[in-house]
Amino acid sequence: MMAQASPWYVHALQRTTAAEPLCVPARMEWTSRPGTGPGAEILGPDLRRKRLLELGCGPGHNAAHLATRYGAQVTGVDLVGLQVRRARSYYGRLNNLTFVAGHALHYLQASNEHFDAIYSVFGAIGLVTPELLLPAIVQHLRLGGTLASSVPHPQRGGRRPSTDDRPSRDYVTLPDRTRLPIARWEYDADRWEKHLGRAGLQLTSAQTSHDARHGRWPTTLLIIARKL
Ligand SMILES: C[S@@+](CC[C@H](N)C(=O)[O-])C[C@H]1O[C@@H](n2cnc3c(N)ncnc32)[C@H](O)[C@@H]1O
Repeated sequence: MMAQASPWYVHALQRTTAAEPLCVPARMEWTSRPGTGPGAEILGPDLRRKRLLELGCGPGHNAAHLATRYGAQVTGVDLVGLQVRRARSYYGRLNNLTFVAGHALHYLQASNEHFDAIYSVFGAIGLVTPELLLPAIVQHLRLGGTLASSVPHPQRGGRRPSTDDRPSRDYVTLPDRTRLPIARWEYDADRWEKHLGRAGLQLTSAQTSHDARHGRWPTTLLIIARKL
């Protein structure tokens, strides 16, 4: 039965059974190495009452951080209802935080809202066709608003970034180490810049981070862009 379930559902199921602490993190984590890299400031200088949208929020830890430490109005969307139920059970008491189950693209297509920043932390950006997702994001960002997304670095472990716009085969690695295949758009910063530009976004920064545990290869690519 598991072999037929969506990789992200199985991922959620295994994460739910793993015992994890139930507190709002003290930092916003953009990289695979907690405690390193930038924090929430990349989303804008003053986040109080700002409207933020997270695409692929998982159990909602980063959204909860932004709502509690910064007083932002945050919506988190995740494909898997189990993740959303878990996020609500952790953080649903916060009235400036909303969790929605659904595909990131469908959520955007059905929404009339505008956001000051839209972000993804190893979430939906990179897992959904950029040609469709980026224009949908732009429609819901206010002018000058920020898009920030961290993705597994396209050169992690010695891989090569895509040489065209198509997705590559990647895997979701579960806590029990089994790997389930998924499609991922493995773009380098130049290819992201091209797609962002076509959608009406200007790349403002592309940061690569490393993790000594993974040798000399980069681990995370953090893309920051602004709506023109
Ligand atoms: C690697 S997890 C990251 C979760 C969270 N951002 C974090 O940092 O803990 C990726 C998440 O993206 C969600 N996801 C995958 N495809 C999605 C899509 N098309 N729309 C919305 N969420 C999606 C998965 O269900 C999963 O919770």
